[in-house]
Amino acid sequence: MKILLIGGAGFIGSHTALRLLREGHEPVVLDSLDPQIHGTDLGTSATFGLLSGRVPVICGDTRDRGAVERVVRDVEAIYYFPAGTGTGQSMYQIERYTDINARGAAVFGEILGEHKAHIRKVIVSSTRAIYGEGAATCPEHGRVYPDSRKLTDLEAGVFETKCPICGASVEAAASLESDPARPSSIYGITKLAQEQIVSNVCQSHGIPAVVFRYQNVYGPGQSLNNAYTGILSIFTQLLLAGREINLFEDSLPSRDFVFIDDLVEYNFRALSLASEGLEVFNLGSGVRSTLVDLVEALAAALGVELKYFISGQFRVGDIRHAAADLTRLTAGLGAHEFLSLRDGVKQFTDWVGRPGEQVTEANRRFDHSLNEMAAAGLLRSSRK
Ligand SMILES: NC(=O)c1ccc[n+]([C@@H]2O[C@H](COP(=O)([O-])OP(=O)(O)OC[C@H]3O[C@@H](n4cnc5c(N)ncnc54)[C@H](O)[C@@H]3O)[C@@H](O)[C@H]2O)c1
Repeated sequence: MKILLIGGAGFIGSHTALRLLREGHEPVVLDSLDPQIHGTDLGTSATFGLLSGRVPVICGDTRDRGAVERVVRDVEAIYYFPAGTGTGQSMYQIERYTDINARGAAVFGEILGEHKAHIRKVIVSSTRAIYGEGAATCPEHGRVYPDSRKLTDLEAGVFETKCPICGASVEAAASLESDPARPSSIYGITKLAQEQIVSNVCQSHGIPAVVFRYQNVYGPGQSLNNAYTGILSIFTQLLLAGREINLFEDSLPSRDFVFIDDLVEYNFRALSLASEGLEVFNLGSGVRSTLVDLVEALAAALGVELKYFISGQFRVGDIRHAAADLTRLTAGLGAHEFLSLRDGVKQFTDWVGRPGEQVTEANRRFDHSLNEMAAAGLLRSSRK
């Protein structure tokens, strides 16, 4: 099949494009080549480099009707990846995130509707951020959906979510696709709008579609330029610079880290899913790891001394815990053995290597990103 990947020059898109190529398909990429992700010199973009000479990359924006129309015309399937992806940054660049994520989907949706006749599948990259704090188990009330954490609680050093009915302590639970969408960041809100716009267009026109709600994806090729997202890249640059790592909150927020090849496996399987309707899947590894687990794995893989401190700082809009329930994924798209965090981190750090000067530059950009958040009043400290 001739397959279009919009936003396909990024981390997930480029790996997916190469997999499609290996499987005998004909991928083509439309991407705005955003300098925040690819750097100002495209020669330094790892993912653009991966595609060079193998997959055609057309520079264009998903909000540009003409650019999208020109590439959609003769393709049979589309992967939709373009997004502003920094949760923290989205909290003060609200217009920019809404424009890329939501209006971009609107422009794409209108064109998709006009081209329904030859599109056999649309695969959309959504996120677990649409669940916000997600689900939890209360000893008295069972499965509950905690509210976004209150500033007053966070400032008092109370980081865990609470039962919305009785206020008791709760145990985080893995997210189900049927859980309510209650995003707590502008990123999550605009990605939900993106998911819903594209899903609605596909359903309205009878285009088979798959929505993936990805957890934290990592691995070789993830941007080392983007200081606003990508916790593995950021921590790695700090460790390589010999710096002490500032672990937010009480160091115990947790995430579900999924290795890029595992995610690409499912992106690929989705293409041949027999369903004619809309299918929604969570996609993570199903395993929750804390910030401490992550920095320990990174320092061990890099062979550097681990120095960290627990600052009690927090970013407004961040959620506390995340993990995917994979029951629906494995029932619909088959089982798969996921790489462990330790093995995946090793592959990632081997790929990063010791990039010398880039480390200093990356550290400078990261400090700048934190200063931006602090200036916007969105990086705060607990009093504990
Ligand atoms: N990486 C993760 O951990 C993760 C987790 C959940 C969801 N996602 C979603 O997966 C998708 C891909 O993420 P990624 O990690 O590959 O990000 P990425 O930043 O590496 O790639 C995004 C790509 O989209 C391009 N892009 C940005 N704005 C565009 C626009 N207006 N028009 C065309 N192209 C544009 C960028 O240049 C980049 O190449 C995103 O939609 C993201 O929200 C990613």
